Amino acid sequence: MAAKVGIFAAILLVCAILSPLLASSFPNHRPEFLEHDSGKTDVTIHGDNNNVVHANVNDIAIPCSNYETRNERSLKEKKKKKNKNKKNKKEMNHHEHDFEAFNFEHPQIEGVRHGYPQVFPEHNVDPITKEHEEPEILEGLREGFYQNTCPQAEEIIRNGLIRAFQNDSTIAAAIPRLFLHDCFVKGCDGSILLDTTPTGGKIEKLSPSNGITVKGFELIDEIKAELEENCPGIVSCSDVLAYLSRDAFVASGLPHYEVSGGRRDGMESRVENVVGNLPLPDDTVDQMIQLFNRKGLNAEDLVVLIGAHSIGVAHCFNFLYRMDTPEKAQMVDPRLGNVMKFTCTGQMSTIAFDATTQYKMDSVFYKQLLMKKGLLESDQALTQDIRTRGLVQRFSNDEVGWFNKFGVAMNKLGAVEVLTGNQGQIRKQCRAVNL
Ligand code: HEM
Ligand SMILES: *[C@@H]1O[C@H](CO)[C@@H](O)[C@H](O)[C@H]1NC(C)=O
Repeated sequence: MAAKVGIFAAILLVCAILSPLLASSFPNHRPEFLEHDSGKTDVTIHGDNNNVVHANVNDIAIPCSNYETRNERSLKEKKKKKNKNKKNKKEMNHHEHDFEAFNFEHPQIEGVRHGYPQVFPEHNVDPITKEHEEPEILEGLREGFYQNTCPQAEEIIRNGLIRAFQNDSTIAAAIPRLFLHDCFVKGCDGSILLDTTPTGGKIEKLSPSNGITVKGFELIDEIKAELEENCPGIVSCSDVLAYLSRDAFVASGLPHYEVSGGRRDGMESRVENVVGNLPLPDDTVDQMIQLFNRKGLNAEDLVVLIGAHSIGVAHCFNFLYRMDTPEKAQMVDPRLGNVMKFTCTGQMSTIAFDATTQYKMDSVFYKQLLMKKGLLESDQALTQDIRTRGLVQRFSNDEVGWFNKFGVAMNKLGAVEVLTGNQGQIRKQCRAVNL
């Protein structure tokens, strides 16, 4: 007990020393106060691309926060990591981005949609148990696909992720978003990675749904180059994205799960294919469920996977409009509304989905949703629909159950309309098809 008090005191001391340092690092983003259900007050720093560097994922439950989800275990870990953490906080830097220079099209925001059911009967929920213990064979994909042909493949990919994560922890959120946007548009075929295609024409990357909101391409190039050096022509770019997404979630605290491999790379990438195939931040629950159904995923997969918003950020143009009309604003916690107004100095500013544990995959995100602290209208809507609300409640109270479902749902996502066998090709580099 005395030891714990000592550790806490040490952490507070580090925080006290670092707070002015941090504040002065973000002159445009003063610390903002957000309250939690614990009734305590947290200091969270919102701002553009605070590429906070962490030596280890266990540091991610930021010690300057008094949010108590990770209790004693993480307290012990913090003791071990304290010195590293101290060093890395000092290395925290602020990267300026010239957003004005990016020719960004504002997404179309359609008319006000409301009228969600107002009654939420509690569902009788069974305890969540781990599903699918045996290796999965999904749509011709299988676990350990590269065991014989490139045994070091998964390790090369994981090391690449860890290397990048240690330099810039925002990469962990960027990669799974790329994967979703690859898989929902003509299947998981690496088409989002293409810069040019034999047919020419505008590529998927140029869609407003992608544009500045997708990144991570350099890391994929690096990893792909290393793979080609070790086992030329073996590992597809689409598989790199699949494994890398897993590694990103694991680096963010999700327990390890096996990923099926065997995807082949597609040869086309057309901006027209994006329309209607990616979810939008003002989608209704109906629209999201329909989209997921079309891709072979169900409403539960949707709610499970939306937990990916436990990490990462959204740009203000994706949610600030909610404060413009009273009907929409009433679905935003007033304190979050203030944070939005305060932090969104422009539409290109960003806020973390889950500001309390931005770099950590945890069920805090679902808890926040239940308190109207969801940044996106679409995320918040999941608490208002009879088909999804019970699941949000369930995952908010059962992190382990959600973890177990997450890997299974990711493998379902990773099996959407895949090319396998002799279909497609194994690209030599991810930005262009082999001719
Ligand atoms: C189903 C409805 C969904 C909608 C409407 C949606 C929408 C969005 C939006 C608007 C952003 C912010 C982009 C930006 O402003 O930069 C975002 C970010 C993100 N999304 Fe989703 N998303 C959905 C589902 C998913 C799923 C299923 C995943 C799982 C892979 C996912 C993973 C992410 C991640 C990790 C980020 C953070 C990206 C970053 O920080 O770089 N999303 N999403
Ligand atoms: C480190 O991260 C920054 C962005 O935060 C990026 O510009 C730079 O290329 C990264 N360095 C390496 C070695 O990945």
